[in-house]
Amino acid sequence: MTPADLKARRTRRALSQTELARRVGVSRTTLWRWEQGRAAPSPEQSRRLRQSLRAAPSPPQRPNGLPIAQLRSGAATLFETPKAAIVHGDALGLLPKLPEACCDLIFADPPYNIGKRFAAFHDRWPNDAAYLTWCERWLSQCLRVLSPTGSLYLMASTQAMPQLDLWLRERIAVLSRIIWHYDSSGVQARRRFGSMHEPILHCVADASHYTFNSEAIAVEARTGARRKLIDHRKPVPAPYSSTKVPGNVWYFPRVRYRMAEYEAHPSQKPEALLERIVAASSNRGDLVLDPFAGTFTSGAVATRLGRRFLGFESQDEYVAIGRRRLGLSGPTRAT
Ligand SMILES: C[S@@+](CC[C@H](N)C(=O)[O-])C[C@H]1O[C@@H](n2cnc3c(N)ncnc32)[C@H](O)[C@@H]1O
Repeated sequence: MTPADLKARRTRRALSQTELARRVGVSRTTLWRWEQGRAAPSPEQSRRLRQSLRAAPSPPQRPNGLPIAQLRSGAATLFETPKAAIVHGDALGLLPKLPEACCDLIFADPPYNIGKRFAAFHDRWPNDAAYLTWCERWLSQCLRVLSPTGSLYLMASTQAMPQLDLWLRERIAVLSRIIWHYDSSGVQARRRFGSMHEPILHCVADASHYTFNSEAIAVEARTGARRKLIDHRKPVPAPYSSTKVPGNVWYFPRVRYRMAEYEAHPSQKPEALLERIVAASSNRGDLVLDPFAGTFTSGAVATRLGRRFLGFESQDEYVAIGRRRLGLSGPTRAT
């Protein structure tokens, strides 16, 4: 079994490195070294590996449709295909209608309480406490509908994120605190350091067993060396890998007027940002949920990458954008 085969077979069986290592009777580091090609199992260990992989139950088949039966009987307006649905309504009322543990990836980019106008919606709460209480209500629902191997990415203002981080880390594992760094827009601040980033929290339901497709998001590893460096720790010395998993500072330009993906929305996120999140933390056929979908960037990316998608949005204008981007031009189902 090659290192790549080993990793692919383990992932197909939905076994974590820790779990497979335990079954084979080696440390997680040893298994990691086998998967990296830095060491090779002995014939006896290979036999135990094969046996453990065969004995692991296959993960449940992905359902084909969407878990939206309860949404159909509510007061929401729904646009759907078998693989994607847009619901026009309030995320707080819609989330409780989803079954437990049905979402593999949740991308939540709520209003930030900074006074923006999203069509008829004004993004301003009476005070920070009221905003946090509102966030905790929908975040509790997100945690309920997240699958046991699922990931939640949360975007928030730099001001609110510390409190949300404190609240979340008592309930779920926070794996990374990501900075989305972008080029400055418009007028530069003159009497303070202008904002050039937004925080993103990457959380997983189970820190020892979650989807993370490192190959799918690999970026070039710049060493600065002119010649390829050779890794002599490998059984057969070979050049160091020329790719790596990106660190937690991500540079993506903001979406601007005249860019092909631009939509009329004050807080549209770039497709490149969502591509990294969806490719890393979900697999084909998985369900991606976006409770505050805006222009449905997450939906456009998720469906393009073969994921199922469910998105909520409270404003008609943005629902119309989402229907166009996702090709959900079918008849309205108003119930
Ligand atoms: C920050 S924007 C999301 C932008 C989105 N990620 C994109 O790339 O276009 C937040 C969105 O949440 C919507 N919204 C506000 N309150 C909502 C609620 N209670 N339920 C559903 N959507 C809501 C707003 O209309 C706005 O479009």
